[in-house]
Amino acid sequence: MHATWLGRASFRTSKPLITSRGVQSRASRQRRSNPITPPQPRKQFNPDIQRFQERYDKKESAAAPHGIPIRVLTFMGITVLAISTYTGYLYSSYQQEVRKAQALDIPADVSDRYNSTASNFDAEVDLSEKAMGLGKKRADLIRLARGDVLEVSCGTGRNVKFYDLKERRGTDEQGRAAILGCRSVTFVDLSPQMVDIAKEKFNAANPEYTRVAFRAQDAAAVTVESPARAHTGKGHYDTIVQTMGLCSMPDPVGTLRHLGEITEPEHGRILLLEHGRSHYEWLNRILDNLAPLHADKHGCWWNRDIGAIVKESGLEVVEEKRWHFGTTWRYILRPKHSDQS
Ligand SMILES: C[S@@+](CC[C@H](N)C(=O)[O-])C[C@H]1O[C@@H](n2cnc3c(N)ncnc32)[C@H](O)[C@@H]1O
Repeated sequence: MHATWLGRASFRTSKPLITSRGVQSRASRQRRSNPITPPQPRKQFNPDIQRFQERYDKKESAAAPHGIPIRVLTFMGITVLAISTYTGYLYSSYQQEVRKAQALDIPADVSDRYNSTASNFDAEVDLSEKAMGLGKKRADLIRLARGDVLEVSCGTGRNVKFYDLKERRGTDEQGRAAILGCRSVTFVDLSPQMVDIAKEKFNAANPEYTRVAFRAQDAAAVTVESPARAHTGKGHYDTIVQTMGLCSMPDPVGTLRHLGEITEPEHGRILLLEHGRSHYEWLNRILDNLAPLHADKHGCWWNRDIGAIVKESGLEVVEEKRWHFGTTWRYILRPKHSDQS
């Protein structure tokens, strides 16, 4: 037992072993046990390499007084340089765009832009809407639509797929008996090109549904027509929907007031999902500076104060929510009762 242990220990050691043939190094023992292995050249002590290593070590410690290796410092330097170059590039592009924007003389009414951008509209907004999670915000709002529904500024019908078209009896969010789902839906937009796309989408998704109408009309002058009137004979809509519309119309306050007049006074609701000014002044400055350029290209004033527009309209706020630094606004509104004014 003891001998075995000693044998193993002597095999592992790298010190020379004294045998009957004299002093043997570990290498020479291995060479003998494996004659194919060519003899390894002895490592020579090279004073030049030694001097170079000493100089290098000295340099390293001189360049890194805090113990940060020079390679890490170099990498950090290059990263800082790249980031500052890119930031500088962004800033100068922004300044260039601001100069371009300020030189433009854009009319307040840019709603005609949608006639020419209709065919590309969905492709242009798809990615940003996905990134902002707007699909869910649309769905959450549109599922509240019930009864005879009017959607103004309907665009290409991006809300079409979220409507619950099965009218039925149920209970509302407060647990009261209510009619759920849509009895009829009317889609209105100023741009005939946008309405055509919305119509195509709706009919493809709901080929059997007949209580639907499409009209190219100004939301500020929209009337209560079929199918709402045809089915109920009443002069109001139960729900009016508008998403991303206040930014595009020349008279957002007057339009909201008008929509309030054609909303059922007791239980009717106006559902809005809009975009506009932020909670933050630095972001509002950017929106203001670039607004004319954006309006000219996309037909939308993205720096409008949606809260101020709603307040000025005189409609009663049932619910208000904001997201994305405050630039996305959701409202549930109702007509102000005469005893509240
Ligand atoms: C930014 S798009 C929004 C479209 C759609 N609601 C959506 O959420 O994707 C604005 C839409 O408002 C429409 N619009 C602009 N002014 C309008 C007005 N006075 N009456 C009705 N629609 C209007 C435009 O034609 C355009 O389709």
